[in-house]
Amino acid sequence: MQNSLWLAGVEKLSLNKLSTSLNCDVCVVGGGLTGIYTAYLLAKKGLNVVLLEGNSSVGIATTGHSTGKLTPQHDAIFAKLIKTFSEEEARTYYDANVNAINNALQNISIDVSQKVDSYLYATTEQGKKQLDEEIEAYKRLKLPGNETTETELPFDVLSSIKLSNTSQIHPTNFALHYAKLAIKEGANIYVNSRVTKVVIDEKTVYVDDELEVSYNNLVLATHYPIEAVKGLQIAKLSIERSYLTATRTTELLKGQYLSVDTPSRTIRTALINNQPYFIYGGSSHKAGTIEETHSYYETLQNEVVSKFDLPEPEFLWSAQDPDTADSIPYVGPITDNESNVYIATGYRKWGLSNSLVAGEIISSAITKEKHAASDIYNPSRNQFGITMLRMLNLIGFTVANLADGYLTRMDAPKCTHLGCRTRWNDGDETWDCPCHGSRFDKNGNVIEGPAVYPLDLKS
Ligand code: FES
Repeated sequence: MQNSLWLAGVEKLSLNKLSTSLNCDVCVVGGGLTGIYTAYLLAKKGLNVVLLEGNSSVGIATTGHSTGKLTPQHDAIFAKLIKTFSEEEARTYYDANVNAINNALQNISIDVSQKVDSYLYATTEQGKKQLDEEIEAYKRLKLPGNETTETELPFDVLSSIKLSNTSQIHPTNFALHYAKLAIKEGANIYVNSRVTKVVIDEKTVYVDDELEVSYNNLVLATHYPIEAVKGLQIAKLSIERSYLTATRTTELLKGQYLSVDTPSRTIRTALINNQPYFIYGGSSHKAGTIEETHSYYETLQNEVVSKFDLPEPEFLWSAQDPDTADSIPYVGPITDNESNVYIATGYRKWGLSNSLVAGEIISSAITKEKHAASDIYNPSRNQFGITMLRMLNLIGFTVANLADGYLTRMDAPKCTHLGCRTRWNDGDETWDCPCHGSRFDKNGNVIEGPAVYPLDLKS
């Protein structure tokens, strides 16, 4: 059963459930960091903002299951970006993330964030080759990282790229901090208020099928958009699950680490109530495709003990991440024709800094200001070749899983999104849908969309 370190002992905000229909300038759906930060920025600009969260608290779902790394070093992304985007655009991606992080940290105390260096490292020849390409991209883009083999890790690395003076955060406390600031600026945040229908033509969303919230602008900040058909995101987003553990340790690291080897591993430490914790994770697979996920946790648990000489982890949790074909998230109007409906998705495991970028891009667009990165994040950007290939692959994957579910898992409940058969996930004790990543707890309640209705466990 999932047990995220970030949710242990966290002091949730006392927030109400929506009890009456409302009108607002901006309706934000989703109370993760993207929704909260967007609400904060817009409320600060004087707009009437309503944020609706389906869970019992904000900042606990996707945000509360992340690694808490707040860095512009997003895996070996820059070598990839310069193959698809211009060097200027790739540099814009880096700058947008650095600026958004710096802007957000101005309002944050030391309790919620720490300065550390970020490292990408390789222990295999194949990984080293990848880092060589990434170093070359850093040079071309004039990024500040440097190559080193000196790390704090208890094993040798063949190569690493160090990016100094980046940050790590307690992601839930960071999100709660911004939720408090958003409320102070006048935003209205409601929990236990699940949006079950979006009627774009009527500029209205329905909460629990009953209450109406009418808006001028709508921000779908639900990780995977609950309306993903209009802009064809349903056929463009691929979803990966990955795993994390935390165990007690005696000292804090000065760096946070990510291997580019296969399988990848992520490492950082965190101080929770004066107790240092070692966070170790990695391994990923397509969401909803594996039943015996306990084996992923077991592998990580064994490595923590054998490679790092630490006690077996007491916290185990997993995360799910949609990604785009060209590695840059989709942030902006859902289509060119629906310029008042915004999405933010496809963060590819780098949701914390990209949430902050998304908040800046969307809040700028709503107040008619141009953000420097809005074009490269535009969900309707034209990456015809790779996006088309991705769409063909995903459509094939979805059709295969739909058919496979009906042939081999007739007893598994039907997903309430578009009807694929779910699959039991034994490590997290959830029902996961392989088609577009919806997740449900063992009682059928929605954990993660695009589904908005609970499972009928007898379906
Ligand atoms: Fe789309 Fe399940 S998430 S069918």
